[in-house]
Amino acid sequence: MNGTTDRLLVVGGGQGIGQAIADAWPQQTTVWTRSRGIDATDPRQLGEAFANHRRAHGVPFALVHTIGDFVEQPLLRTDLATWRHLFASNLDSAFHTLQAIVPAMVESRRGRVVLFAAAGVDKDRAMLRAPAYFAAKAALVQLARSLAVEVAPAGVTVNVIAPGLIHHPHSHQQSQQRLLARVPSGRLGTVEDVLGMVRYLLSDAAAYVTGQVLTVDGGLQA
Ligand SMILES: NC(=O)c1ccc[n+]([C@@H]2O[C@H](COP(=O)([O-])OP(=O)(O)OC[C@H]3O[C@@H](n4cnc5c(N)ncnc54)[C@H](OP(=O)(O)O)[C@@H]3O)[C@@H](O)[C@H]2O)c1
Repeated sequence: MNGTTDRLLVVGGGQGIGQAIADAWPQQTTVWTRSRGIDATDPRQLGEAFANHRRAHGVPFALVHTIGDFVEQPLLRTDLATWRHLFASNLDSAFHTLQAIVPAMVESRRGRVVLFAAAGVDKDRAMLRAPAYFAAKAALVQLARSLAVEVAPAGVTVNVIAPGLIHHPHSHQQSQQRLLARVPSGRLGTVEDVLGMVRYLLSDAAAYVTGQVLTVDGGLQA
């Protein structure tokens, strides 16, 4: 993000990690959430919102997608409605957001995209706590890697941040406290810990970094 002119769009920036990102560039940021009238699982709403954004502010330099509901449940106890909800929230919302906005970034031949997965989903191992959620996040990583290659010639980068246990007022406190002993750094992460990675990915220093998963988890062994 350069100077005061580059725009940042945070899809899901009403609380938690997304809110901290939006607050870091208060004059340059637009936030989309359902409570602000935009449901990112609905491509029509996204299309209209982006047409309005483009008229008012032009094409954003940076797009950060922070939506992703979490349900901790074994796979065989996950009902179909929960499965569909987790994929709609974590994967479909990203797909629709990328399709609504990235073509304009490609046209303008610059841009940064940051998506959020979860620590460990890029590894070749079981993720027992929340298999449906982690499956959707793993799919998101694969989507991001492919998009990164697709848009690299246009000067647009696409990267994924994989957070561990990040504490904020709306985070899953019980599960985080239960797993705290598995964090070698000895503490839960903060939204500032994640913001540091976002600042890097939106900076000139990261212009040549794309298709990567960057983990922020204090060494979590989960
Ligand atoms: N916090 C952690 O420890 C942790 C760990 C690993 C991964 N992550 C991932 O990191 C990302 C951010 O986590 P977080 O804890 O900050 O999330 P969060 O507290 O659940 O906040 C999500 C935000 O997204 C908005 N949102 C949800 N569904 C939406 C939809 N369909 N359309 C538009 N906006 C929607 C919510 O506002 P509305 O309800 O008003 O729409 C809210 O502002 C997520 O992808 C999460 O899976 C978090």
